[in-house]
This record gives sequence, structure tokens and C-alpha cells, in this order.
Amino acid sequence: MMNGAHASILDAVGGTPIVKLNRVVPADVQAEIYVKCEFMNPAGSMKDRIAINMIRAAEEEGRLKPGGTIVEATSGNTGAGLAMVAAVKGYRCVFVMPDKMSQEKIAALRAWGARVVVCPTAVEPNDPRSYYSVARRIAEETPNAMLANQYHNPDNPDGHYRSTGPEIWAQTGGEIDALVAGMGTGGTLSGTGKYLKEQKPDVQIVGVDPVGSVYYDFVKHGLVTRPFSYKVEGIGEDFFPSTMNLKVLDDCVRVDDRECFMMTRDLVRLEGLYVGGSCGAAVAGAIKWARGRNKRERIVVLLPDSASRYLSKVFNDEWMRENGFADEPTLGTVRELLALKPQHLVTARSDETLRTVIGKMKQHGVSQLPVVDGEQLKGIVSEVEVLRNLVSGEAHLDAPIAHILDSDYAGVTPDTRIDLLKSVLADAKVAIVTDGPTLLGIVSKIDVIDYLSHRMSEQQAS
Ligand SMILES: Cc1ncc(COP(=O)(O)O)c(C=O)c1O
Repeated sequence: MMNGAHASILDAVGGTPIVKLNRVVPADVQAEIYVKCEFMNPAGSMKDRIAINMIRAAEEEGRLKPGGTIVEATSGNTGAGLAMVAAVKGYRCVFVMPDKMSQEKIAALRAWGARVVVCPTAVEPNDPRSYYSVARRIAEETPNAMLANQYHNPDNPDGHYRSTGPEIWAQTGGEIDALVAGMGTGGTLSGTGKYLKEQKPDVQIVGVDPVGSVYYDFVKHGLVTRPFSYKVEGIGEDFFPSTMNLKVLDDCVRVDDRECFMMTRDLVRLEGLYVGGSCGAAVAGAIKWARGRNKRERIVVLLPDSASRYLSKVFNDEWMRENGFADEPTLGTVRELLALKPQHLVTARSDETLRTVIGKMKQHGVSQLPVVDGEQLKGIVSEVEVLRNLVSGEAHLDAPIAHILDSDYAGVTPDTRIDLLKSVLADAKVAIVTDGPTLLGIVSKIDVIDYLSHRMSEQQAS
């Protein structure tokens, strides 16, 4: 072996630099923010680390033998990582993905020598035609095949526990106060966070979640809210993967698509970091979190993948305009809606009786109330649910409302665009607006109608 050479590209995974952010951090933020450049991994993302670990574990446990096949339901970074490892080790790879994926992504995986199977998007996950089901079936029917299964494979977080965690600890010499990362499968935060906590129990582990995903409301309020779609890729979920260990988390911050994409573009243009959309999310989240703490802390943010995958999206002005991210939102934001509807926010406590709550609904003419104990949002109580419980005889007028609460609402922020809210409310009963721990308001369809008609009459008058 030549001096200084790696035995294969797999030895070049990891060892990514940590770099200080200089120009994107606003002056009022006291913390020093550093980024770990995971986009510099050979197959393009931090998923290279878990690909190596999932395959290593499968080999050691005899689940994958020479000449075997690796199957995964993926369109993205995990696929590239697995395909790279498979190429080096002589395995075959089959990736199953939904038909909404771009030709570019499919072509990229084929370039690594992988076979790609495309399935219909518009079916439920447990439908036999769904890409999850097809991946499982191919893995079962192919001799000597393993399903990588990154959402439920403990070797995913373990990959970060073995590599990302020790690496950050060694690079920073332990001088790290907080780790911030986006949450998809949760592998990154659960594995890296666990390792860092073992070294330094008071290191803060902070997850970043896009508006529309289920993690934020669950971490902050213990509620499973209604997910809705968003554009940032790789982070946020509409279910809870078993690879996400929420116990490792100390806090969670929420970001919206516009913030993610604006910060992504700034990271490239102002810091020279050639990164993708979830990197903007993580940094925007870190800045928000740091602002709230107002402390001189050293924060390390993980930057998962590179700009090259998003040239036709985040870095394409037309795409940004078409999706309403480039300009100021034309219909305004939830902040403007709330300002127009100065509400005395009526809430209930979970120990109040159904009789009291019905009284409040009648008195204030509202169909649903947020239920708050102290500062803690507990859910909503809605006319529909009250009626259902009264008709079925399950509810007692003098019993506390605690057991008829539901969380069938969409969680939004003051910056959420009204055009997005329109589609959110097509599914959810109401949207609850929070800013960090503060409950700001509740928005129903009629509020949006009121707001839009007010805007229209103002525009016609001017
Ligand atoms: C671009 C990108 N960012 C962030 C994540 C989230 O990482 P994890 O799945 O480890 O939570 C992923 C995972 O798919 C990703 O592809």
C-alpha cells in the first residue's frame, strides 16, 4: 500500500471538517455556531456512515453473505451510500422508490450500478403495491438479500454512535455545548446525541423539525398532530420511526420551508458552503434556538448533504418563485391574519368540566378551544368531538374534559403563509399557532375566509 493512501473509498467516509459560521449568524446571537460538513462524504451525505454500519452489522450477523443483494425503499442519500458500499464490496443493490421521484435521482442510483424499481405514489404504505411493500417482498423473495430498512434498523443510529459522535467529541476536544440537527429517521440525532451525552451529560441535543411534520408537537406538547406536506427534503416525518429516540432530545425547534431555503442559499453565497435544503433548516433552527437562550455557547450543527441534489429546486429562481419562496408571500402570513383578528384567545383547562367548556363555546361563539394547563398545550376540544361523545353516551357533563381532547389540528407558526394554510385546513379541523412555547392563536377556515375577504375589499378600495 502506498503511504497516505486509503485501502478503498470506504475509508474516506467521515473525518469531515468542522467550520465556523461567520456571516449568516445575526449580530444579536451570542453563541458561536459551527457546522460539520457531512456533505463532504464520498457518496455525498452523512448517510454514508450508516450505510457502512448497516452492511457491516449484516455481514457480521450472517444476514448478508458474499454476492448478496441489498434492498432498500429509498430515493435519496441512503441509497447513494448503500450503492457505494455495494460497489466496493461486490453486492447487488435494488432500490424501490415512488414514481414522484425525479429522473435525476433514479439515474444517479443507476450510475452506481443499482437496479431501480418504480412504484405508484398514490397508495397507502401497507398496500402491496406501495414502495415499502414491494421492497419488503423483493428482499424476502431474493436469496441472500437484506432489507436495509433505515427507519427501523438500530444499526442506523448505531452508525452515528460509532462514528459521528466520537468524531465530534475528538475534533472539539469536548468543547461543545450543543448539537443541532434535522430529524428524519432520527438516526443522526439519536446516535450522535447518545454518544455526546455519555461523554458530557449536560450537552444540549436539539432537533430541528419542519412545519408540517409530527415531531415538534410531540416533543413540545406530547401531542400527535395532523401532518401536512412541506418541500424541504430529508427531514420531518408523518409517523414515528423506531430509529428516533426522543429521550435523547433536550429541545426541538420548528422551521418553515421559506426559512430553510433562504438560509440554504445564504450558506452557499455568504459562507461558501455548498449545501442542500435540510442544511439551511438545521442552521436556521440553530440560530432560533441560540437566540432564545442568549448564552455564549458553542453549537455544532450537522450539514447532511450537498447543493448538487437541489440545483433544479432551491437554487433555481423559477422553482422558488413558483412555490412562493422567492418573494414576500402574496397572500400574507398567519401573523397578519392574527393581527387582523385581535383575539382574546379563549382557552380551557383539562380539569374543567364539559359543562363549563360548552358554556365557554356558547359564550364566545367558537367551535373549538385550545386546552392549556399552565403553559402546556394539551390539545383541542371541538364541537364535533363533544357531540360525538354526548351522542355515544361516553361523556358526562360534570366530568373533566381531559379524556375528550384531541390533537387533530395542524401546528403552524406566525410565518406560515396563508396560501399554505388554505391547503392545511382542507385536511385538519383547525390550525394552532405557536411561537416556541407561546400559544398565539387558533385559526379555522372561517378565519381564513374573513381574512381573505378583508384583504380583497381593501385592495378593491385602494
Ligand atoms: C438531506 C437529509 N437531511 C437530513 C436527514 C435526516 O437524518 P436522519 O435520518 O439521520 O434523521 C436526511 C435523512 O434522510 C437527509 O437525507
